[in-house]
Amino acid sequence: MAKEFLTDVTALRTRARKHIEKGAVTEGYRADRDTVNRILNEALATEIVCVLRYKRHYFMASGINATSVAQEFLQHANEEQGHADLIAARIVQLGGEPNFSPDGLLTRSHAEYVEGESLVDMIKEDLVAERIAIDSYGEMIRYLGNDDPTSRRMLEGILAMEEEHAEDLATLLATMGDE
Ligand SMILES: [Fe+2]
Ligand SMILES: [Fe+2]
Repeated sequence: MAKEFLTDVTALRTRARKHIEKGAVTEGYRADRDTVNRILNEALATEIVCVLRYKRHYFMASGINATSVAQEFLQHANEEQGHADLIAARIVQLGGEPNFSPDGLLTRSHAEYVEGESLVDMIKEDLVAERIAIDSYGEMIRYLGNDDPTSRRMLEGILAMEEEHAEDLATLLATMGDE
């Protein structure tokens, strides 16, 4: 039996003309926007905290003559910044407001900000943060399911990169002879 195609065209056209001020958010949007925006703001805070931690580690590692590790930290910092920008743009697209306030940043963030004493400490802390991000993105993706495919795909892309980050850090730790 053939599956029927959604709504008839006339209804689609009529619906699209209502609430045009909502931009990308149509009547067909199935997720709970308040919850999605809250979750995305937590992800945004997590990314910002990760940028700050990686920047700190980059500059400290540069100081202790560990150039290749420092470069890895810098690359991750820049990629986390890219994630933060994607998430902030999506929040706006969903009619919300990205929260960049330093007040409560660490509370909103899932990952922690740990400076770490040695190079190995720094790598370990970053690996822990990546593992936290991996689990929280996985939960968000499962929560969204088919209700918001655009946010889900964005988060899936970010998750894949956090997994790469974790792998990079685990490899670095192993080459440093400390696991
Ligand atoms: Fe990230
Ligand atoms: Fe990451």
